[in-house]
Amino acid sequence: MEQFKILLGEKDIPNSWYNVAADLPFSLPPLINPGTKKPLAKDDLKAIFPLALIEQEMSTQRWIDIPSEVLDIYRLWRPTPLRRARRLEKFLKTKSRIYYKDESVSPTGSHKTNTAIAQAYYNKKAGIKRIVTETGAGQWGSALSFACNVFGMGCRVYMVKVSFHQKPLRKSLMHIWGAEVIASPSEMTEAGRNILKRDPHCQGSLGMAISEAVEEAAKNKEANYSLGSVLNHVLLHQTVIGLEVKKQLRIAGEKPDYLIACVGGGSNFGGLVFPFISDKLKNKGLNIIAVEPTACPSMTKGVYEYDFGDTSMLTPLIKMFTLGHNFVPAGIHAGGLRYHGCSSLVSALCAHDLVEAVSCQQLEVFKAAVTFARTEGIVPAPETAHAVKAAIDIARREKKPKCIVFNFSGHGFLDLSAYDKYLAGELVNYAHPISSIKKSLKDLPKLF
Ligand SMILES: Cc1ncc(COP(=O)(O)O)c(C=O)c1O
Repeated sequence: MEQFKILLGEKDIPNSWYNVAADLPFSLPPLINPGTKKPLAKDDLKAIFPLALIEQEMSTQRWIDIPSEVLDIYRLWRPTPLRRARRLEKFLKTKSRIYYKDESVSPTGSHKTNTAIAQAYYNKKAGIKRIVTETGAGQWGSALSFACNVFGMGCRVYMVKVSFHQKPLRKSLMHIWGAEVIASPSEMTEAGRNILKRDPHCQGSLGMAISEAVEEAAKNKEANYSLGSVLNHVLLHQTVIGLEVKKQLRIAGEKPDYLIACVGGGSNFGGLVFPFISDKLKNKGLNIIAVEPTACPSMTKGVYEYDFGDTSMLTPLIKMFTLGHNFVPAGIHAGGLRYHGCSSLVSALCAHDLVEAVSCQQLEVFKAAVTFARTEGIVPAPETAHAVKAAIDIARREKKPKCIVFNFSGHGFLDLSAYDKYLAGELVNYAHPISSIKKSLKDLPKLF
């Protein structure tokens, strides 16, 4: 009988996260304190993060135990299925085998819950009463709202204004879990007020929302800040994805030729691929593909430099592929991919040619998403659809049978208005002009 999904039991949930920093053949550029221009010290982050997460951020220890309280919550939806996309394969008439790791089965609909639970847990343990964060499309905000609710903590979410209006149902979800949702830029913070003074109609960006959340957390002793991507500890928590995939591929008797995931800040990508990086170092034939939108092409059109993670220059400096912290992306529907930068770990892998980055236009991404929904039955989140598009392209291009694995980072049940617009022919392609990227790159901080 043909197998459609490879399932694991609860005992197969990994009991440690995997830290790729332990196995890289190059040293990683540290986070830099923008004041001293020296590598960041643990104390520099104490105003916004609990010590346990700061230690994970800077750790080079290979395995980090997952606390039993976190594992207990993971059991609600983990392990997630690895599905074989047989109906999509048939439709494409490909000889390749296409697998997708289905992270959409989490309570909040995406991979973001993997780190939200871990971060809320460590904050609760440190005596924090409330977490402040930002969200683009609303997936991260939903995940953290759920996690704070699980651990009995308050949650305030600064939601990028364009998404706040495009995705009202994400707001409803956050409200159900007791969070407060504020359209960013807002009048609540100095960062928000400054932005609105310059541009009262500003539709926001992730960089701006981060500034607001960091500012509020830094000013409040009982509150901490939490980030849904980019930082090492966030990607660390996501490695449960790749660790499970490794086991599932072994059961299926497969070795991947391609690993694919979309990249916003890099967390679902890192989560899938980090456990395979040691394999990549031995086997150059393994292709690892990062997919981003042409509207926000940090890895394909950005530069590998130190930059701020936010617009108001409140964060440490991160060596990453960046379009400049003042870059404001167009309001395409993959809100979670509209970030000017990228994880420093993922960026370093790309800079060392261990990872290849590609970019896709919005219309071809939605076309691939609809093909996927019509063959496999699940509607991908617009972000996830970038990985679907790349997987379809590769399956079509490869003449020999290959094993293609992509991360299905989330479902699009709360993104149906974007699909309505696509089906009505109202969406357009958009590639950010090079001249405008060059302009925002002029504001990169001078380190030396
Ligand atoms: C479903 C989904 N996939 C992917 C992403 C991109 O984020 P990251 O690159 O951190 O995985 C997001 C971000 O919001 C998302 O909601």
